[in-house]
Amino acid sequence: MSIALVLLAAGKGTRMKSDLPKVLHPIAHAPMLEHAMSAGAHLAPERTVVVAGHGFDDVKAATLEVDETAVVVEQAEQLGTAHAVDQARTALADFQGDVVVLYGDTPFVSPETLDCMIAARQTHDLVILGFEAQDPGRYGRLVMDGDMLQRIVEFKDASDAERQITLCNSGLLACDARLLFDLLAQVGNNNAQGEYYLTDIVELAGSQGHKVTAISCDESETLGINSRADLAAADAVFQASARAALLENGVTLMAPDTVYLAFDTMIGRDTLIEPNVVFGPGVTVESGAKIRAFSHLEGCHVSRGAIVGPYARLRPGAELAEDVHVGNFVEIKNAQVDTGAKINHLSYVGDASVGARTNIGAGTITCNYDGFMKHQTTIGADVFIGSDTMLVAPVTVGDGAMTATGTVVTSNVEPDAMAMARAKQENRLGSARKLRDILRAKKARLTKDKT
Ligand code: UD1
Ligand code: MG
Repeated sequence: MSIALVLLAAGKGTRMKSDLPKVLHPIAHAPMLEHAMSAGAHLAPERTVVVAGHGFDDVKAATLEVDETAVVVEQAEQLGTAHAVDQARTALADFQGDVVVLYGDTPFVSPETLDCMIAARQTHDLVILGFEAQDPGRYGRLVMDGDMLQRIVEFKDASDAERQITLCNSGLLACDARLLFDLLAQVGNNNAQGEYYLTDIVELAGSQGHKVTAISCDESETLGINSRADLAAADAVFQASARAALLENGVTLMAPDTVYLAFDTMIGRDTLIEPNVVFGPGVTVESGAKIRAFSHLEGCHVSRGAIVGPYARLRPGAELAEDVHVGNFVEIKNAQVDTGAKINHLSYVGDASVGARTNIGAGTITCNYDGFMKHQTTIGADVFIGSDTMLVAPVTVGDGAMTATGTVVTSNVEPDAMAMARAKQENRLGSARKLRDILRAKKARLTKDKT
């Protein structure tokens, strides 16, 4: 059975109070639209049609970034959910199979639920996804007769008795494409809101002899996002399930609630994550690594056995090979650090490569930026960089070389050479005491003048 997804994403999202279209607000660093698309991707859709309106150009660009084969159609005026789905009519004119309607602002429908909807389609022509609502509020109510769904009544149009129903409409549905577009053509807007309700197709289908049912899922899956508070709650739901998945896959999280994950964070088994670690997008951590407390990682790759932090920052392009150690207050950006190298204290390593087993002393900085351009620092294998070395890029330090503490390296260092560039030390005997006496006397004079 071929499946086409129709994702509704034209709404303004007034309650977000934002210039950004609602569906582009991020959850765990990916737009909610992307979460909805990846939920739908479980069905291996043959086509994906996104119905966009508010912020059309931005929504289109974001959609194509996730799936360049998706079709984005414009709903210039938001005349209701039926009108929205109808915008996909032309894009799906030659499509044979099932249409599954998803909402861009309801991103967490589970793969199992989508499978149940498709399974229910074997016996019914139209399948609606409902849920038992804790607080049914303003959701549309499902009016059932046994396992047949008779109609959906919107809150504003419902009688007091209907408002007592707690089985609510999530908005998601599955229907044969030809039947769906036939039904949509018959929907009018004679209702409390003057909108074309997608929900009206239920009663239309039933009256024309089609079998309609509803299946239900957990309320958390139908969580709709309408405000910043909803967005934060959705992020929390995502975090909880992503943490649970890591634990399930053999990752140790010492304090799961304090670890923030991105939509694409990948962590191998037997890796240990200490409390208060933040993952930005694009992070892969291999098996058996240790990410210590208060570290921040984004766009980086950490290999087996590496130790990162506490208080480390790995920025995009940081590539740590096996058994690398990166310690406290170390920032690494766009740099390859080879096997077993150590950068343990207070350092910045950017636009650089560090060879195997090399030790970078405390307070070392690759001076990569001259105010106009970025330059590369290349450090070989088995190098010892003394504490407080400034490496003024572009510069190369050969294998087995050393730099003396406090050295400012401005030209290349040959393999096995020792670079030393600092003022020669001179001890002036008694000078400290003399200076102290002068300063003490001066301070005493100043204090006396004031009183
Ligand atoms: C809709 C359902 C309601 C259900 C609820 C679940 C209808 C008539 N009502 O109500 O039964 O309980 O969702 O959240 O379908 N959209 C468009 N274009 C439009 C209108 C809406 O793209 O012209 C999109 C919105 O961006 C949103 C989704 O469709 O993603 C739902 O629209 P919304 O206005 O929130 O519908 P509700 O009134 O909440
Ligand atoms: Mg809504």
